[in-house]
Amino acid sequence: MIDVRIAPSAGFCFGVRRAVDMAIKALEDFKNPAYTLGPIIHNPQEVERLRKKGILMANSLEEIGSGTVIIRSHGAPKGVIDLAQKQGLEIVDATCPLVKRLKERVRDLTEMGLQVVIVGESDHPEVRAVLSYASGRCLVTRGPEDLDPERLEPVVGIVAQTTQSLENLQSVVSRCIPICREIHVYNTICEATRNRVAEALCLAGEVDVMIVVGGKNSGNTKRLAESVGNSGTPTFHIERAEELNGVTIPPGSSVGVTAGASTPSWIIEEVVARLRTLD
Ligand code: F3S
Repeated sequence: MIDVRIAPSAGFCFGVRRAVDMAIKALEDFKNPAYTLGPIIHNPQEVERLRKKGILMANSLEEIGSGTVIIRSHGAPKGVIDLAQKQGLEIVDATCPLVKRLKERVRDLTEMGLQVVIVGESDHPEVRAVLSYASGRCLVTRGPEDLDPERLEPVVGIVAQTTQSLENLQSVVSRCIPICREIHVYNTICEATRNRVAEALCLAGEVDVMIVVGGKNSGNTKRLAESVGNSGTPTFHIERAEELNGVTIPPGSSVGVTAGASTPSWIIEEVVARLRTLD
């Protein structure tokens, strides 16, 4: 019999849950059709489920003639929100409050005249949205190795994309210390992300195999799988229960299950149910 243990925080974080609930409510309350700008979450199966309910996806405002635009939990650049207003669209702003807090930090540091360093992925929608509150001197770095010391100013403010790891933020700060005279650091990593990783690592220490469930296009799920894999426990990142067919789990093993912030509970339940049939 396989012993299956599920991390308590596996699945939707409060910001994603809030965004999905707001999108569903927008269908009842506002003008149809309702569009999200980009996928509402990085999970193709959930995006498809919502599409069937009438929540469509557009890649740009030009694709939306009229109706409602839902700003996803990652937020959107300032210019895009201004444009949506001019276009007369109903705006449902489902930006996660913690992403809003990060934007405010960046705006404040910029207003103080500081160069801002964002630890994160420059092509991630959250970082693109946050960048719209910074000046052209802002630097985005994936980690310490990407940081060009020539471009650093003597006084900097450092923040992180909400789903970054604490270790990465710390490494960037350490890299700046010998170069900069003054550094203002804000730990903008969200607690949901920190707790999820801590719980998953704890679980990985107790089981033989770890399964990380979530979209292959989800940055936070990929980083979660990477952190768990680094613990030394054999780890598999899957999107759907069917992918367990390609995973070897010896009889009598204990299996830990965790999932990214954008993984809906119905997918986690399918994976757990499939695991329980193996033996
Ligand atoms: Fe918000 Fe953290 Fe989730 S920033 S969207 S609660 S991962």
